[in-house]
This record gives sequence, structure tokens and C-alpha cells, in this order.
Amino acid sequence: MVVNSAQAVADRYAEFSWQQARGESDAHEELTARISQDPEFCDFLGASLPPGNKQQPNLLLAAVRYLDGPHADQGPRGDFAYRTWREWTIRHWDDVRDVMMRRLTQTNEPARCATLLPLLARLPQPLALLEVGASAGLCLHPDRYRYRYDDGPEFGAPDSPVVFPCRTSPGTPVPTGLPRIVWRAGIDLNPLDVTDPDDVRWLQALIWPGSTPDAAERQQRQLGAIEAVRQAPPAPLVRGDLLDELPALAAQAPRDATLVVFHTAVLTYLPLERREEFARVVRSVLVDRAGHWVSNEHHSVLPWLPGPRPADAHRLTLSVDGRPVALTGQHGQSVQWLEEGPQVG
Ligand SMILES: C[S@@+](CC[C@H](N)C(=O)[O-])C[C@H]1O[C@@H](n2cnc3c(N)ncnc32)[C@H](O)[C@@H]1O
Repeated sequence: MVVNSAQAVADRYAEFSWQQARGESDAHEELTARISQDPEFCDFLGASLPPGNKQQPNLLLAAVRYLDGPHADQGPRGDFAYRTWREWTIRHWDDVRDVMMRRLTQTNEPARCATLLPLLARLPQPLALLEVGASAGLCLHPDRYRYRYDDGPEFGAPDSPVVFPCRTSPGTPVPTGLPRIVWRAGIDLNPLDVTDPDDVRWLQALIWPGSTPDAAERQQRQLGAIEAVRQAPPAPLVRGDLLDELPALAAQAPRDATLVVFHTAVLTYLPLERREEFARVVRSVLVDRAGHWVSNEHHSVLPWLPGPRPADAHRLTLSVDGRPVALTGQHGQSVQWLEEGPQVG
């Protein structure tokens, strides 16, 4: 079968190395490039895993990290490190495969709240937040974190164990306070539980090793956000498909709050027809009430979006009600406001 052939697996790893890991994680770029040049190992992966999502490079890399296998980011890289990683992975294959079969790639990046805040803070308050594709729901709690934009003062939840730094461009409506959130809920195919140590371990394993301090900082910040979210009851997360669950959940939001349906790095998981259908469903749930649709996705995921394509392929496009307003760092580290962005709120 073509999708299971060693060549198809090799192509997938080569593409991941070039298109996704390059510029984000030297360790993952090198590891996946070496896998792509190892026909025997690609054949093994193709024969041992069902085609499709379970062959995702990111899933394999995270499973090995989750099981405390050799981390490509530790110690010298090169052929010896690859052989060590490969040998360990084959020796522990039953465990690795088991993790891959029961887990999904669902990185939760709470620092993305720093890129949502300039929008959320300008909307009529209070807010009802509904996140689709929420993972563990860390982005549903922007009011439990602290923020620092550029060299400005820190603000946010005073006792929060975590602060998100964020660079902005001129013209960004830098917030100075938190939004008032009176209701929040999320939807995910597989909600993760911030109180479950196993889920927390998986969330940490999903953060890519980097050659910069950013990866270690992201892991620390994610742990800080998890602690912040655990301090009070977390938002309820509904298990299910975002299209199926959205109308009923949106109907539960209080009518005297501004309903914000939002998603970050989610719609890429849906085929194009489902993304188009989602756009129709969101508009229909918002049509008869004051509400907004906030989307923070890679530009290619929503091909109907107008406006500039980011030159940096790793950036996301922040849009409100289908109109781009900013380009954002995919880990929440920057916001570049678009000059012609529409006024909101
Ligand atoms: C990459 S994670 C992003 C999580 C979070 N939005 C963030 O930015 O940190 C994508 C999430 O979308 C969820 N997801 C993918 N397809 C979905 C669907 N059809 N319905 C509900 N959730 C879905 C996945 O389970 C995963 O938790």
C-alpha cells in the first residue's frame, strides 16, 4: 500500500524536518531528517503503525520523550546520538507504540493568551469564552496569568505563578488590564486534565526541544499555567467534535456577556470542507447575539482569509469575524498588528 511504504514514511519525515522543525527545533530537524534517510527504520514504522495520524512524526518524537527515552536535545547530536535514539526506540517499541495509539498531538500553549489579550481586552465586557480544540483548556484562563508587553510593566493576576512576555509592533493596542470573564467552556476530541499527572507529562513531552532557551522556558511556563489553572476549578471541557458540540454549548453562555468563540492552532486538523462548515456554524451561533469569532491559525488553514500572507511560515494569523487583525508568534511570543486591521468592540 502506497501510504505505508517506506518511501511514503521517509517523505513525511523529510517534509516535517524541512517545513515544520526547521527554525523551531534543531534537534527535531536533525532527528527527523536522519529518520527520513533510514529506509530500514521507515519501513519498520510503515509496517508497525496504521496509516494517517498515527504515523505523525510529532507523535513518535513526543512518545519517546514521554517515556523518557534519549532526548535528542541532550548531549552531542550526530550519528551516534541517532543510533542511540533508534536503538532505544526499537527496544521499547511496544511501549512507544502503545503511547502513540492512545495519545494525540495536542500541544497546549497558554502563552497564546498574550496574543489574544489585545483583542479580548477591547471587546465589550464581560466576556463568555468558548474555545474549540481546547486541549487542556489552558487558553481559557487568560485572567489567571500575568503579562509583560515589550519593556512595559507587568500586569495581570497578581498571584499568578507565570508571566508571559510578548513583543509587539507599533500600532498594537497593548492591553493594560485583564478582561472580565463570567463564563468559560471548551470542546475537544480528547480533553486533557490538568489535575492528572499523566496528562501533564504528555503536555510537557509535546513541547519540542529547542536549541534556544525558549523550549525550556516554554516547559516552565506551561507548568506555571497548569498550576494557575489548578488553583480554582478549571473550565468545563466537553468531549466531542467541535462542529457537533458548538451550537449546544454556545446556547449555554449567558446572554448578557459578549460571547467569544475562539480557536488557536486547531482547524488544521479538519479537512477543508469541515473548516468551511465550521465557519458557517460559528456565524450561525453568533448571528442573533452580540458575539465574536476569534481565530488564530496558520494562514494556509483558512484560504478564504484576505490580507497579507506572513513571510515567516511559522507565524499565525489572528482574525476577528473573518478579518485578519494581526500576525502572531506561534508560541505567543509576538504580535504584529496589521495597519489596516478593523476596529473591534
Ligand atoms: C494543537 S492543539 C491546540 C490546543 C490549544 N488551542 C492551544 O492553542 O494551545 C489542537 C487541539 O484540537 C483538538 N481537535 C482537533 N480536531 C478536533 C475536532 N474535530 N473537534 C474537537 N477538537 C479537535 C485536538 O484534540 C487538540 O487538543
